[in-house]
Amino acid sequence: HEILVMNGPNLSRLGRREPDIYGDVTLDAVNAGLRERFPDVAFTFFQSEYEGALIEELYRVEDRGGCSGAVLNAGALTHYSIALRDAISAVGFPVIEVHLSNVHARETFRHTSVLAAVCAGVISGFGVDSYRLGVEAITHMAGAES
Ligand code: DQA
Repeated sequence: HEILVMNGPNLSRLGRREPDIYGDVTLDAVNAGLRERFPDVAFTFFQSEYEGALIEELYRVEDRGGCSGAVLNAGALTHYSIALRDAISAVGFPVIEVHLSNVHARETFRHTSVLAAVCAGVISGFGVDSYRLGVEAITHMAGAES
């Protein structure tokens, strides 16, 4: 499997940012943990604070021949980025929306995802385990290739 793990705005600060909500593990440690746990998966890790950079990365991977799927924590873009939603719709590989926190247990503006309907599924509330569950979802999905 080739899997893209993509993180949006403010997730660069994981481990230091609101640790009571998001935990004390850094994004580098999350990614290293995935590599260790799934030695047979070819991972691409990408993070940006910019909506357009995330969109460009989806198209870069698509143009390179696609991948088995993407695990995406879009951060706050989840709640309002129609541009990111349209990019997810445009690519041929499945995207799994993930969140560290349970967004439904938080402020009402976090209850809406404009991405969820075009994603293969949503995983929210399991801390850094949400990423592992996202990877497992892709590896278990019927029709996921290579
Ligand atoms: C988040 C939840 C979002 O509402 C928030 O804006 C984030 C992180 C999560 O992983 O729990 O940046 O996606």
